[in-house]
Amino acid sequence: MDQIDELRGGILKDVDAADNLAALDAVRVEALGKKGRITALMKTLGGMDAESRKSAGQALNVLKDEVAAAIASRKADLEESTLNARLADESIDVSLPIRQESHGLVHPISQTIEEIVEIFAPMGFEVAEGPDIEDDFHNFTALNFPPDHPAREMHDTFFMPRKEDGTRNLLRTHTSPVQVRVMQSSSPPIRILAPGRTYRCDYDITHTPMFHQVEGLVIDKATHMGHLKGCLIEFAKAYFEVDDLPIRFRPSYFPFTEPSAEVDIGCSRSGGELKIGAGADWLEILGCGMVHPNVLRACGLDPDVYQGFAFGMGVERVAMLKYGIPDLRTFFDSDLRWLRHYGFSALDVPSLAGGLSQ
Ligand code: DAH
Repeated sequence: MDQIDELRGGILKDVDAADNLAALDAVRVEALGKKGRITALMKTLGGMDAESRKSAGQALNVLKDEVAAAIASRKADLEESTLNARLADESIDVSLPIRQESHGLVHPISQTIEEIVEIFAPMGFEVAEGPDIEDDFHNFTALNFPPDHPAREMHDTFFMPRKEDGTRNLLRTHTSPVQVRVMQSSSPPIRILAPGRTYRCDYDITHTPMFHQVEGLVIDKATHMGHLKGCLIEFAKAYFEVDDLPIRFRPSYFPFTEPSAEVDIGCSRSGGELKIGAGADWLEILGCGMVHPNVLRACGLDPDVYQGFAFGMGVERVAMLKYGIPDLRTFFDSDLRWLRHYGFSALDVPSLAGGLSQ
């Protein structure tokens, strides 16, 4: 018994004295490990008579539990103080001046979307969003694409694997499905702007598999083509920051609008340099039109009561034109030198009053 008490005293002292986790583990091994001191005493039980084996066995088990508990409690203390020391050591003083090399910049895509929203917001447009993964109904059918129409293929759609019921989801090929979702979930008057990512299987100097569009939709009872023209002319002048910007509406075709048009702005390419404004050439910037009655119907609106217009533009495209960025693919290269050249300061918040891109 004396031997056990002595052992207890010694081990508990060692446990207390261990000032780090490695030292504590060494104490544990020395006491409870295969060749440990308590384990060694356990082994002597076999040579004792039944009576003393019983009492010594019990005492040793109590000792074992006591030592294990002491080690666990010391371990918890040590872990907490190690964590506290690390927290104190790794704390960051946020009031220190920033490092010279950490120079965050706003990507031209984000800046361009901000600019577009800033122009349409005062006209009463609200920002709406929809999912990147769409179904056939929202991306095509409700937008009046006939079943098996080649337009579905024209979009170079990324399809998901077929589900058990035979249908398959897809990555939206344009932001137009947001029109459908908004018309289904709210009632006119509607005035929304939907910026977001879009996907098509295509890659060259003017195409990347992921790109961005901004969709616009206005629905009420009396909106007509004149409103569409006024709204988009106002946008183009404000966005390109050219007051006498030549703008033309060229007849076009989209399944979801009738009539449909594409909007071109004037430019000159003399001397190999592209200049937005008066000149001999035209550049397409967006598609638009009056929402097709079939689309209104598919979204649960009565085309004899409601009408309106829609438009869609490529964000990268208008950013490239405005900021003279020659290759679309560079937008997504994550090249810091590119961002340093084309990026914007976080303090360059676009505003109509203060100049959009100052
Ligand atoms: N969704 C068309 C595209 O991706 C762009 C577009 C054209 C959207 C005309 C519209 C619109 O809302 O009215 O090419």
